[in-house]
Amino acid sequence: MKSEEIRKLFLEFFEKRGHKIIPSSSLIPYDDPSVLLTTAGMQQFKKYFTREKDPNQDFGTQRTASIQKCFRTTDIEEVGDERHLTFFEMLGNFSFGPIGNDDPQNFGTDGYFKRSAIYWAYEFIKSLGLEIDYVTVFGGENDVPFDEKSYKIWQEIGFPENKILKGGREDNFWGPTGDEGPCGPTTEIYVDGLEIWNLVFNEYYQDKDGKLQKLQYPGVDTGMGLERLMKVLQKTPTIFETDLFMDLKNVLEKLIKHDDLRRERIVFDHLRGSVFLVADGLYPSNLERGYILRRILRRLTLNLKFLGIDLEKIDDLLKAVINKYSEFYPELKNFSKIKEVIFGEIRIFEKTLTAGLKEFNRLIKGNEDDQSLAEKTFFLYTSYGLPLEIAKELLRENQIKWSEISQQTFEELFKKHQQISRGNNK
Ligand code: ALA
Repeated sequence: MKSEEIRKLFLEFFEKRGHKIIPSSSLIPYDDPSVLLTTAGMQQFKKYFTREKDPNQDFGTQRTASIQKCFRTTDIEEVGDERHLTFFEMLGNFSFGPIGNDDPQNFGTDGYFKRSAIYWAYEFIKSLGLEIDYVTVFGGENDVPFDEKSYKIWQEIGFPENKILKGGREDNFWGPTGDEGPCGPTTEIYVDGLEIWNLVFNEYYQDKDGKLQKLQYPGVDTGMGLERLMKVLQKTPTIFETDLFMDLKNVLEKLIKHDDLRRERIVFDHLRGSVFLVADGLYPSNLERGYILRRILRRLTLNLKFLGIDLEKIDDLLKAVINKYSEFYPELKNFSKIKEVIFGEIRIFEKTLTAGLKEFNRLIKGNEDDQSLAEKTFFLYTSYGLPLEIAKELLRENQIKWSEISQQTFEELFKKHQQISRGNNK
């Protein structure tokens, strides 16, 4: 089964059970100042969990389901390994309180809770022919008690005790996004050693000081990563051989001159991510979310260059992403705009990079015990425009350690430099 089919099956499954299907919200959150980008499916529904908005009025039901575009930067430096991504799609079903009849046979529009959420997740996974390895539930920590209810529901379904593991706040408690919001204990489903589905029971609201308060009505927020799901369904070695990346992979492999799996994966992730960000109206800049885009486009440029790809060929790569996704995400259909923004940025950066790399190789490469690393990277920055994060990436690749002291020294030089330029401006 292909990803297109899975998206459809998921939405149909929940639509049949009283959920209104809501399109993915933009990657640029429109009314959530707590985060720069959309990181989870629940984000567009935050105000329904807190009851600042009424789901019955807006959706005609207390149940919604969506496939949400998400972008997370926390693991950006891990991208390149077998499993980390910045952009991904999250399949989710949601219930907003008050809870009505929490019976999985109830296909109505009232709010549901742990029973229906767990039974349906189990049923959907089984319907795909997947075997669950084990599940986890919240075991209790500090003021939040053990989630005995979820534990019992899994037992009732037939899971033996050794397949229902307990976790603490670190593993089995989710949220909030940003610095405040709904959050709660989770139960998670594992298939082939991968966490496939996270079922969050939003019972709390965490305020800016980290204090938990009980929400007036508890709700359900689930999230299943499509890339991981496709990996276990299509039994591929990693997520990058699933149909989600295959077209792009085929095009890329024709263009590369030097094999390097890590760089290929960075290109898959950063190219797909930047296409989606630009399609949602983001432009590269030096500020906040615009800087996230700029950063991944710079890394993309670096890795395309090291793979020996002619940047003029970017069209073929962009088209591979757009063709695969634009049916489901029509905002991707604006090829010329997406190309203009992405190509514009990488073409400019490529010039900086070419000059910066030459100097990097001359000044730094091969010199592991360099005492003046900070000064040299600072020089590369001021004289060649080579950004620190790219210099650090090159250092990592060359196994040259960038220490806390180097970081501090760089920052001091940077501050002095700013003061001098401000003085000059006056
Ligand atoms: N909001 C939950 C997550 O992102 C489902 O994992």
